Amino acid sequence: MQVSNLANTLIGSEIIKIGNEVNEMKRKGAQIANLTIGDFDPSIFPIPEALESEIVKAYHEGHTNYPPADGILSLRETVTRILSDRYQLNYTINDILVAGGSRPLIYAVYLALVDPGDKVIYPAPSWNNNHYCHLSNANGIAITTTVEDNFMPTAAQLRPHLKGATLLALCSPLNPTGTMFTAEQLEEICDLVIEENQSRGADEKPLYIMYDQIYSLLTFGRAHVDPVSLRPALKDYVVYIDGISKCLAATGVRVGWAFGPASIMAKMKAILGHIGAWAPKAEQVAVANYFGDHTLVDGFLASFKAQVQQSLDALYEGFKELKNEGFAVDAVVPMGAIYLTLKIDYIGKTTPDGQLLQTSADVNFYLIKAAQTALVPFSAFGNSENMPWFRASIGGCSLQDIKNMMSRIKAALSALH
Ligand SMILES: Cc1ncc(COP(=O)(O)O)c(C=O)c1O
Repeated sequence: MQVSNLANTLIGSEIIKIGNEVNEMKRKGAQIANLTIGDFDPSIFPIPEALESEIVKAYHEGHTNYPPADGILSLRETVTRILSDRYQLNYTINDILVAGGSRPLIYAVYLALVDPGDKVIYPAPSWNNNHYCHLSNANGIAITTTVEDNFMPTAAQLRPHLKGATLLALCSPLNPTGTMFTAEQLEEICDLVIEENQSRGADEKPLYIMYDQIYSLLTFGRAHVDPVSLRPALKDYVVYIDGISKCLAATGVRVGWAFGPASIMAKMKAILGHIGAWAPKAEQVAVANYFGDHTLVDGFLASFKAQVQQSLDALYEGFKELKNEGFAVDAVVPMGAIYLTLKIDYIGKTTPDGQLLQTSADVNFYLIKAAQTALVPFSAFGNSENMPWFRASIGGCSLQDIKNMMSRIKAALSALH
């Protein structure tokens, strides 16, 4: 069958591929600790009860027709209030665009700003920018970051690439690493963007920042920072991505929003209007009612974050213990989101049945089989397959699952030579 070049050259999600393999093994009866997908098992991490009630109520009230293309007014009003109360950011209802989760909004940012061949800069590891570059025919440039900087991009790494670029895609807390920008790191990057834009003529397209802060309410004691708060002069050049998928464990509810310059939001609205990627109206009504109630949301977040952090800490401590025992592993302190960065430095080793582990994917599949533990190698996030770093996502496992898996990992690593 002849299909478009775009369809022919599309690369499926590596994470979903690993997840499917795990599900297939589970179907056959294997017990696997699935630390792959950035999702939540609703039996371990349910959505807030009050949100669920609001959704049911909204359906009973008959909110089943098309929502307005930019989102219902009451939700956009709620978002403006959250932005000023929680982030001290001043945006009006015309600066906000609601959609069915944050993915369509990210794609709309690319489509609204990037012309075919335009340079888009993003860090590696990062989530899905390579795919959005492909979808928009951008010239994607992945900047490899290092553990010394907690895998966050630095101004020094970005500086040589910003000349003439259209979009700088940033995210904090970062998927896949669970690490965050410090104010100083982000300020230095913001200053570069300001400098680059000052060097461009009035008829040139400026350099924009897409700032994905979908995990900003899931931080563990560190302050979330964002470009416009640090450098108000950037307000015309930053589009933020946010929503409820992660902070309310509500990945299947599908409500996200972007905010930024009203003229860009209007273009994104027109693009998404053709795609029809609106959030369901009843869910919008429910989120408008629920998310505006700080007491309810803070109460949920306090216990949800504690549960997420407990799992991340247990995994972190488990790997630190293995390291102290002499295993070639390491872990980066969890700062935010639902991810832990793990080093499992066993590329080049041989399994008990004689297979040489040549790539991080080989190590991953060995751990799935030998330790019934599934991770995602950083090669799924734009890094090389020789890099011994992995993402562990804790949303699909109980704390007990995580504690149980450590002895299996130890035994599996001990069996390598
Ligand atoms: C950084 C980041 N942005 C956006 C998304 C997508 O969120 P949504 O489910 O709201 O589309 C994810 C999901 O994994 C993510 O990790």
